[in-house]
Amino acid sequence: MRRKVTVVGAGFVGSTTAQRIVDRELADVVLTDVIEGVPAGRALDLLESTPIVGSDVQARGISTASGDYRETSGSDIVVVTAGFPRKPGMSRNDLLQANYGVVRTVVEAVVTQSPGAILIMVTNPLDAMAQAAWRTSGFPRERVIGMAGILDSGRMSTFVAQELGVSIDNVHALVLGGHGDTMVPLPRYTTVASIPLPELLPRERIEAIIQRTRDGGIEIVNLLRTGGAYYAPSAAVVEMVEAILKDQKKILPCSVLLEGEYGLRDVFVGVPVKLGARGVEQIVELNLSADERAALHGSAAAVRELVDVLGL
Ligand code: 2OP
Repeated sequence: MRRKVTVVGAGFVGSTTAQRIVDRELADVVLTDVIEGVPAGRALDLLESTPIVGSDVQARGISTASGDYRETSGSDIVVVTAGFPRKPGMSRNDLLQANYGVVRTVVEAVVTQSPGAILIMVTNPLDAMAQAAWRTSGFPRERVIGMAGILDSGRMSTFVAQELGVSIDNVHALVLGGHGDTMVPLPRYTTVASIPLPELLPRERIEAIIQRTRDGGIEIVNLLRTGGAYYAPSAAVVEMVEAILKDQKKILPCSVLLEGEYGLRDVFVGVPVKLGARGVEQIVELNLSADERAALHGSAAAVRELVDVLGL
């Protein structure tokens, strides 16, 4: 049975996500955008790469300017990257109203064509957009998942590996909470060759790495000037796509709707979840310290504020 993934948004994040899916021969890809020509051109270019990379999948690109999403029907997964990216000086929250409109339009269309799909949200502000997608789609919470914690944890792992001069294979960072300034990097759950990070770095160095992790997105926006990161975000998305399509039962930090877990309810926020064929198959509850739990609740409250603005 051929697997099918629709990627909505043929910008840098979407097209790089499509490329990673093709390169890893995970599924046929449909790339969409409201811009005429761009999705078709990038998908054709991707298709022409398949004999070279040895990937026997299909790649198609369509413009959805007319609202016609029929080519996306029957998708196993729909990745939503569509929306406005940040510019220097902007926070992810500045995108709230504009991107809510985009997400609502896109989700209404794709769920009509793929009522059994799993939605992976990327559009910022991530946690609020994931909640918007859940509300708009009417899907069970298991099938609406926000990509953020893998990206933020990947950044923290990178900074730890650089600081210690070790292989990134040794480093496993964990960042929970909302995908923004209130995110919750957890040094106590970050290990280097199974050694807890606090045994290897002094507090002030850990704090510096935490702050750089929080600023990871804007650091790249400020360097690029014309958009945001896409290599690491797309790599994070594809780790989720692979875990679902291969039913890996992989535990990864993702933004999901909590219904009492961690003492939180009716809000999307990043926590460790087990990803498999059914999407979110388990929410893993950590025995957080009082400070860690307070930070998670504070982050959830920041997400809640955005969601309340949207009236979700
Ligand atoms: C980032 O942190 C795009 O929000 C994404 O780079």
